Amino acid sequence: MPTYIAAIDQGTTSTRCIIFDRQGNIVSLGQKEHSQIYPQPGWVEHDPEEIWRNTQEVIARARINAQIQASDIAAVGITNQRETTVVWNRKTGKPYYNALVWQDTRTGDLVAKYAEEAGQDRFRAATGLPMATYFSSLKIKWILDNVPEVRDDAERGLALFGNMDTFLIWHLTGGIYNGQHITDVTNASRTQLMNLETLEWDDALLEAFDIPRAMLPQIRSSSEVYGTVTSEVLPGVPIAGILGDQQAALVGQTCFEPGQAKNTYGTGCFLLMNTGTELRHSTCGLLTTVAYRFGDQPVHYALEGSVAIAGALVQWLRDNLGLISTSAEVDTLARTVADNGGAYFVPAFSGLYAPYWKADARGVIAGLTRFVTKAHLARAVLEATAYQTLDVVQAMEKDASIELSSLRVDGGMTVNELLMQFQADMLGVPVIRPKMTETTALGAAYAAGLAVGYWSSFDDLRQNWGVDRTFEPQMAEADQQRFYRGWQKAVERSFGWEN
Ligand code: G3P
Repeated sequence: MPTYIAAIDQGTTSTRCIIFDRQGNIVSLGQKEHSQIYPQPGWVEHDPEEIWRNTQEVIARARINAQIQASDIAAVGITNQRETTVVWNRKTGKPYYNALVWQDTRTGDLVAKYAEEAGQDRFRAATGLPMATYFSSLKIKWILDNVPEVRDDAERGLALFGNMDTFLIWHLTGGIYNGQHITDVTNASRTQLMNLETLEWDDALLEAFDIPRAMLPQIRSSSEVYGTVTSEVLPGVPIAGILGDQQAALVGQTCFEPGQAKNTYGTGCFLLMNTGTELRHSTCGLLTTVAYRFGDQPVHYALEGSVAIAGALVQWLRDNLGLISTSAEVDTLARTVADNGGAYFVPAFSGLYAPYWKADARGVIAGLTRFVTKAHLARAVLEATAYQTLDVVQAMEKDASIELSSLRVDGGMTVNELLMQFQADMLGVPVIRPKMTETTALGAAYAAGLAVGYWSSFDDLRQNWGVDRTFEPQMAEADQQRFYRGWQKAVERSFGWEN
């Protein structure tokens, strides 16, 4: 058996290749950011060809950094930003249009139209998802309706749809020379076109969104050998895992038992609770989604609270306002004051996701007085992520009738100890940061490694998990409630803006 497992993590802001050993340690890493394209307010695009070039480059870098041959790698797993939608031509490999990113809100009018016809939850029973700009369905429809020739080509099977997993795998397995057009159940569950029970594309949904079946990839499990890489960056290596990035983090955190939950603090913030083989529908604004399916084992589901803007707000403070010059400075600045000084920041840049699902919400800063300084704003920026997580946890406790006893966290923002402590204070339960916080890539590596026998069981994986630090709640309950009331008032003020 070769020595290593590789994972490609195609995220919202960058693409990474990480090579792991059997203990789940990082042996080597390549990373590159890609351009964020904002053609109009609310529109967010990526150039899929740039992302494919970056993918090849980061794989090469990861291999070169640690002098690793392709033959040293037992398998590769792919994980990706979910929902982001590409349509490209099978014969030329060229995208018809930039990728429409999950945060893009150009389909806001369509959301309103569909919701008006039959309610925001018209597809919830079949898909677990409300009407929102977030999912792939309306993004595909927008491309079909607005970009010349795509609809004709899609009906003839010439135009292919994929999320980033599908687009990259198609390229890695030969592209125009018979590349494989596949996805996995977790990614498919975010298109709003797959039926959660049959795990197949659903004709009624395809009809409702007017999407030709011929353009859709084949849906496979999250862990099996799909094919081998033909591209020269990783020749001959089996592709054996595909997971949407948030589901990958759930697997990387080894949350295999019903009731186990993790929260990933990245561009956005995504809390997933494994609900086992049971499909639970939310009545409190959460999503029902596929957690994973390993080979022909039963599918596992999750309840998810998706928050669109978390780390992205820190970047916005840096890039759009220039209040800090590096992301890390937000922590230093926030620490110069004892609290938020009464200021709250609701970052509804893409509307508000869970549990509100308000496409017409927009960002607000509330509670300002002349006392408030940029340090209080830095604090409000960090606290926004903790309050949004609390909103989601409360919805989850109601939906699942399970009280959270602790929360496993991961992702880039978990290095911020001020935020982690405040999160524990707001939730009133311990926040547990594991030693390995690169859980997204690790989850994809686990899916691939299990498929090829590099790891033999979940127990192998659980042994790799260990605690780095536990943040215990310290805040008095009355203070906690006062802060949270302020947040709730600020949230109300973010509703009702135009799309
Ligand atoms: O649903 C969107 C999510 O998958 C994006 O994750 O880590 O790229 O911000 P991330």
